[in-house]
Amino acid sequence: MKKNGMGSHQSHNMTTDEWLTPPEIVKALAPIDLDPCAPIIQPWKIADKCFTIIDDGLNQPWEGFVYCNPPYGKMAAKWLEKLANHDNGIALIFARTETEMFFDWVWPYADSLLFIKGRLTFWKVDGTPAPYNGGAPSVMVAYGKHARARLIKSGIPGQLLNLR
Ligand SMILES: C[S@@+](CC[C@H](N)C(=O)[O-])C[C@H]1O[C@@H](n2cnc3c(N)ncnc32)[C@H](O)[C@@H]1O
Repeated sequence: MKKNGMGSHQSHNMTTDEWLTPPEIVKALAPIDLDPCAPIIQPWKIADKCFTIIDDGLNQPWEGFVYCNPPYGKMAAKWLEKLANHDNGIALIFARTETEMFFDWVWPYADSLLFIKGRLTFWKVDGTPAPYNGGAPSVMVAYGKHARARLIKSGIPGQLLNLR
C-alpha cells in the first residue's frame, strides 16, 4: 500500500507542480484534444495538442475536448474558470468541496462530478509513480454534455454525481 501524509503533495507547502495524471486515467479519457497545462518534460503525451508554462496555456485559445490537471494552489481557480467557460472538458482536482474555488467554479457550472474511489498516486516527469499517494481524495469535474458522456464512458471507479 502506498504511503501518504507528510510526503503527499496535496498540501499548500509542496514545492513542485509537476505531478502527472496516472496513465490509466489518461487512457480511460482518451482521445483528448488539448492539455493546456502540460509539463515541459513529458514522459507521455496526454493530448493531441499541449501547452506548457512556456506557452502559458491559460492565455491561449482552447479548442476541442480539454483535459486539465491544473497547477496547484490559488491559481487553480483561474484554470477552472476558463474550463467552465469553455464548457467542453474535464478537470482533475482534489475534492475540497468546501473551498471558495469549488463554490465559485465547480458547484455552479459543472455538469457532473466523479468522486474517485481511493486515492490517486500521481506520477513524476521521469515516468515513474510517486512513492506515496496524493494524500487526499480526487474528483473529476466535467463541464459540458460531451465531457459528461466521456466521464461516464471512462469507467474510472468512483461515484458519479450529475449536477444538471
Ligand atoms: C499538476 S501538473 C499536470 C501535468 C499534466 N497536465 C498531467 O495531468 O499529467 C500541472 C502542470 O501545469 C504546468 N503549468 C504551470 N503553469 C502553466 C501555464 N501558465 N501554462 C501551461 N502550463 C503550466 C506545470 O509545469 C505542470 O506541468
